[in-house]
Amino acid sequence: MIRLLFIGDVVGRSGRAAVLEQVPLLRARWELDFVIVNGENAAGGFGLTETLLEEFLAVGVDAVTLGNHAFDQREALVFIERQPRLIRPVNFPIGTPGRGATVVENAKGTRLLVVNVMGRIFMDALDDPFAAVKRELALCPLGEMCDAAVVDFHAEASSEKWALAHFVDGKASLIVGTHTHTPSADHRILAGGTGNPFFTTDTGAALRAAELSCDAVMKATQVDGIYSADPKKDPTATRFDRLSHDEAIARKLQVMDTAAFALARDNDIPIVVFSVNEPGAIPSAILGKGRATYVMP
Ligand SMILES: [Fe+2]
Ligand SMILES: [Fe+2]
Repeated sequence: MIRLLFIGDVVGRSGRAAVLEQVPLLRARWELDFVIVNGENAAGGFGLTETLLEEFLAVGVDAVTLGNHAFDQREALVFIERQPRLIRPVNFPIGTPGRGATVVENAKGTRLLVVNVMGRIFMDALDDPFAAVKRELALCPLGEMCDAAVVDFHAEASSEKWALAHFVDGKASLIVGTHTHTPSADHRILAGGTGNPFFTTDTGAALRAAELSCDAVMKATQVDGIYSADPKKDPTATRFDRLSHDEAIARKLQVMDTAAFALARDNDIPIVVFSVNEPGAIPSAILGKGRATYVMP
């Protein structure tokens, strides 16, 4: 597990003071692997100076991202070239000083790719942020050249941020939004991720199937289908070749929990229950052959 703190737009003296005071404490308390800061407003609300950047780095900030105010302090056009931990939006015009992505490595040898990109809705006309991020992630693939990848999407509209988040789901570890200076509570884990408390594996599978528009949920289990009762305990148990989701729920069949059947029903997803112990069971089930119970409308 990698523990990362990302701090959005740090504004002016009071913002800087909070970062300089709190980052060392939070780093220790939360055993942080990385701290990233968006510093586009750190110099009195407009841009960043090299002195302020170095103050951030000195207290344990690993990388600093920018945005539309990147070069409000003209000196940044020069010093950004010699500061590999400072990045500006990757989709700025070709020839803009600096870089839009960087890899930072911590003492444990964990490598974090940081990409900074700017949105275009209600913002400046820039190159396509989607293509730019895709290119950067392809140049430094997650799990190969870096252990985690975070994208700071400096943008106005949450819809554009969401679109990019779905676009990079599974290829980036985290996408965060900066620029708006307003806190929001729309954090979530996308389909390519994990972690839903109170969900059984069956319900989790049904949920993922719905999110990813899957054709079916395949449940490979210990028995060759769904029975009216547990066939290991009840010799009178009978097996179903086919059932509807509603029948499965009404009969309170124990093979999967009700929530899984209901989620699958509401999203028109068939469930195929088959024995994992039969040779070739998985390809047979996928082809609709072999012994299985099909739960479908
Ligand atoms: Fe900002
Ligand atoms: Fe901004």
